[in-house]
Amino acid sequence: MTVDIFLNLTGRGYHIYIGPGLVGRLGAYLKGLPLSAKALLVTNPKVRVLYGALAEKSLLCAGFQVVTAEVPDGEEAKSLSSAEKLYDLAYTGGLDRKSPVIALGGGVVGDLAGFVAATYMRGVPFVQVPTTLLAQVDSSVGGKVAVNHPRGKNIIGAFYQPRLVVADTDTLATLDPHELRSGLAEVIKYGVIADAGFFAWLESNLENLLALEPEALVHAVATSCRIKARVVEEDETEQGRRAILNFGHTVGHALEALSGYRVFRHGEAVAIGMVAEARLAEAMGIFPEEDAARLELLVKRAGLPAGVPPALSAAPTTARTGEFLELLQRDKKARAGRYAFALPVKIGRAEVFRDVSEEKIRQYILENLSLDI
Ligand code: NAD
Ligand code: GLY
Repeated sequence: MTVDIFLNLTGRGYHIYIGPGLVGRLGAYLKGLPLSAKALLVTNPKVRVLYGALAEKSLLCAGFQVVTAEVPDGEEAKSLSSAEKLYDLAYTGGLDRKSPVIALGGGVVGDLAGFVAATYMRGVPFVQVPTTLLAQVDSSVGGKVAVNHPRGKNIIGAFYQPRLVVADTDTLATLDPHELRSGLAEVIKYGVIADAGFFAWLESNLENLLALEPEALVHAVATSCRIKARVVEEDETEQGRRAILNFGHTVGHALEALSGYRVFRHGEAVAIGMVAEARLAEAMGIFPEEDAARLELLVKRAGLPAGVPPALSAAPTTARTGEFLELLQRDKKARAGRYAFALPVKIGRAEVFRDVSEEKIRQYILENLSLDI
């Protein structure tokens, strides 16, 4: 059942393998690449207990010597001080310029290990072994690596593509159900922005996915990766088209920042953002009402929030509105005082609109979205 997707970038293309039981085959996959025998395996305590021994054994059997590094669980691990500890371990462990840095974990481990791989000795081979749904469908593919700065998320980073991605869908069985649902928001996003057939498949197969049915999981992860791979091939460094991957994220990121990153998981904020932005697109006359309603229904069926939950909401205050608009302005798609959004024009296609007025945002987003979080 293993799916092999090739992300084609001249001279830097790589395979993304997706299927059950792949952590046990990690060493065999790596053996095919021109690498030194010493490898740095980066993980966290939770993931290490579950899959660390399996990954290490597979690497040892393939002839690698493994230095395993644990970073703390949680977003705080994406810091320059964590990176510094990993540089120390890599150096004292004798890693050279062909030694792979292997990320075993979710997006936090992947982003941090990728940042270290991009900078240690000016860049060493990087391998992603994503173990959350979000990491399998989004963060492990496409080469964005980063650590956080006290003033903002992902402020210090690079575009640095992995040499290989090995996504073992069996690992999703141990995920907290909230993490699984959070990853589903990104899966739904791919249907909206690029593939109407996939969106319809999600409408019919959502329960199978939530029940972790193996074939459904492989199909959902593989289709998502294929879509992301095609977008990244077209626009690796986000000069244009790659920004469509940010559908739902402009509002989502602003909500996360407004709530100090403590109220919503990333996928939950993206789900609220997708519904709000879809309703904005509908009000602008570019997205059919029935498509917005289908999206909202699928989000709710996935157990994701379609708005700020009533327990958290109250009338938006003027101060919060100002802060929210400022956060939208700071979004990387924004240009010279106008608001930019990746918006759907129908289920299966999105475009970047760089000229959305504040009046429209006040009228169609702020009227319907509580900011008291
Ligand atoms: P995460 O890495 O914090 O993982 C979520 C939780 O699941 C953690 O507690 C983790 O220990 C646990 N976990 C991981 N795998 C598990 C498994 N198989 N079984 C049980 N528990 C498991 O969070 P995430 O949602 O994977 O990633 C979020 C990060 O990804 C953020 O830092 C975000 O900025 C980043 N991100 C990066 C990109 C990119 O393109 N690079 C894209 C989206 C998000
Ligand atoms: N997660 C959005 C991107 O990779 O561009």
